[in-house]
Amino acid sequence: MFTNKTVLITGGSSGIGLALACQLRQRNASVIVLSRSGSKLKAACLKIDAIPGSGSVMSYRADVRSFLQIRQVVRTIEKTHQLDCIINSAGMVQPARFKDQNLSAFKRAMNANFQGTVNVCKAVAPFMLNRKGGMIVNIGSLAGFIGVYGYTAYSASKFAVHGFTQALRAEMKPHGVHVMLVAPPDTDTPMLHRERTLMPPETAAINDSAGMLSAEHVALQIIHGIKKKRKLVVPGFEGKFAYLASRFIPGIVDLVMDGKIASVRGKRKNQHKNAANHTA
Ligand SMILES: NC(=O)c1ccc[n+]([C@@H]2O[C@H](COP(=O)([O-])OP(=O)(O)OC[C@H]3O[C@@H](n4cnc5c(N)ncnc54)[C@H](OP(=O)(O)O)[C@@H]3O)[C@@H](O)[C@H]2O)c1
Repeated sequence: MFTNKTVLITGGSSGIGLALACQLRQRNASVIVLSRSGSKLKAACLKIDAIPGSGSVMSYRADVRSFLQIRQVVRTIEKTHQLDCIINSAGMVQPARFKDQNLSAFKRAMNANFQGTVNVCKAVAPFMLNRKGGMIVNIGSLAGFIGVYGYTAYSASKFAVHGFTQALRAEMKPHGVHVMLVAPPDTDTPMLHRERTLMPPETAAINDSAGMLSAEHVALQIIHGIKKKRKLVVPGFEGKFAYLASRFIPGIVDLVMDGKIASVRGKRKNQHKNAANHTA
């Protein structure tokens, strides 16, 4: 299905995007990875190139927050390749309690996660609409269905991605362009490792209950979703369960999350009490 097809993956130099690039290369797609850091792109291309496959491997340095940069890249690619599929995987997260979060963190999350996704879709849509075909895959998050402690900025940006993707799907469908949303739970990537160093313990306790998947597993589920032209892919059993629970029993989801937060806070209070008794 992917032979002779060209796929552009933003955030393709790391984590889920890189795992997708490797899997698509194996399936003979021509793979184009895009991100900001030249050294990460170079390392990613070496890794993708080492996998046998008949398609080409290319990379572009660009920032998804800049529509001008993205439009330039898309126009350049379209001179030689037809973009059959784009995957918006570029993103960032900076968890913190709202009381500790700078206002600028909200702008950063919205710019990278939401506006970045919009920019890429806006740049590629005219080409796909012209051809009456193509596939747009936007990576949201389970935190785009469920507002999670410590993720006021991230959840807001991912809810925005989800709303945008649903509306875009409805608009593109009559023109033969398929739009798919992916909502992964915690996935073992450099982002998650960075994030864990910043995460309030309440956030970690909640996230742990949804399990952790490998980037390869998430990539395989996304590829399956592309083949089946799914509207939504929620990788993993725990992820699917959390998504369905958030839709059909949201009160229970809140109760479980509030319970986990209370338990972490209770433990911390006891630790402080024990430490105070010890010093006294
Ligand atoms: N890992 C998880 O637990 C998890 C869970 C749910 C959803 N997600 C979502 O899945 C997507 C991929 O996450 P990941 O875990 O694979 O993250 P990752 O390993 O940190 O990879 C992020 C990629 O995005 C690129 N990037 C970041 N900001 C960019 C920008 N402004 N312009 C262009 N490229 C940019 C990064 O490269 P440069 O920094 O060099 O630009 C990197 O290639 C994200 O949208 C994330 O929100 C992840």
